[in-house]
Amino acid sequence: MENNILEVKNLKMHYVSKYETVKAINDISFSVKKGETFGLVGESGCGKSSVCKTLLQLLPPNAKFMGGSIKYKGKELIGLSNKELQKIRGREISMSFQELMTALNPVTKVKEQIYEQFIGLKMTKQEKYAKAVNLLKLVGIPSPEQRLEEYVHQFSGGMRQRIMIAIALAAQPSMLLADEPTTALDVTIQDQIIKLINSLKETLGMSIILVTHDLGVVSQMCDSIAVMYAGSIVETGDTLTIFSKPRHPYTEGLIRSMPKDDGSKDRLESIEGAPPNLNNLPKGCSFAERCKYATEICINQMPPLKEVGENHYSKCFHTDLLINSKGLIEL
Ligand SMILES: Nc1ncnc2c1ncn2[C@@H]1O[C@H](COP(=O)(O)OP(=O)(O)O)[C@@H](O)[C@H]1O
Ligand code: SF4
Ligand SMILES: [Mg+2]
Repeated sequence: MENNILEVKNLKMHYVSKYETVKAINDISFSVKKGETFGLVGESGCGKSSVCKTLLQLLPPNAKFMGGSIKYKGKELIGLSNKELQKIRGREISMSFQELMTALNPVTKVKEQIYEQFIGLKMTKQEKYAKAVNLLKLVGIPSPEQRLEEYVHQFSGGMRQRIMIAIALAAQPSMLLADEPTTALDVTIQDQIIKLINSLKETLGMSIILVTHDLGVVSQMCDSIAVMYAGSIVETGDTLTIFSKPRHPYTEGLIRSMPKDDGSKDRLESIEGAPPNLNNLPKGCSFAERCKYATEICINQMPPLKEVGENHYSKCFHTDLLINSKGLIEL
């Protein structure tokens, strides 16, 4: 579709070693529209960061691409040479990493880390400096001239996250992959980062893939979402639709385990059990062991991702059982 900036189809990626094959991405498809924030949501270990790293082909040596297509602005990224990918990374699609302390260099000044993003761009020293100052201002870091001369350890957690975002924005990408930008921050700082990313989207007109395990964050930031479970997308659609009418038992469980804003004392339901080992996935539905709706077919066959409404898909045999399931909001 013309409106889509990114189209991912049937993507598969496994981490392979002598001892195991971790099936981190198992045939996932999704698309991101121009200017939207698309949420990739799910418990830790379900494959969210792996999806982002596969999009940019920034994977460790044990990662094995198993098939699929990634089209960005209509152009296939799979099969591009490293040189061609360099033109995409940072300039077109950029990532702010989850592991801040590994992604940010502890021994070079913030200024130098921003300047690295300008390599290959025709800019004078003065232009680089002015742009770096502006970037820190843009992400809300006070006294930018002074802070550019400092090292990462001199910043608080929230300020480090802002620096990571500034570096990701340095080459003016059209798309930002923000991997857990609010995790490990306290609630007030989380709120500030949410506001910052929302305002950057408006002022820069970027498309964003927001990775998080926190549905509360999703509800404040995302236009549409994909819920991931054990390396697959199990439900996808507009955020409002999914929050009001979840049609996959896993999403329903996630929503029911969210604390409510109205302070009501309904007991939170949590999803019992743990996700399956990605090295040993069941042949049927990977959620079956934890699912209260599971039947024989769920154990023996893999459910297809089927359309359950306009632009709304669920990977479940028994979506009809959830037809009256109430989400957090009523439309
Ligand atoms: N370099 C790696 N080698 C082997 N397994 C990995 C590697 N990186 C991640 N994994 C595994 O892949 C799965 C998905 O990980 P990840 O994409 O980081 O999930 P998430 O971001 O949703 O927490 C997990 O089981 C994780 O342990
Ligand atoms: S396919 Fe079956 S086990 Fe899987 S989520 Fe649907 S009802 Fe539950
Ligand atoms: Mg992750």
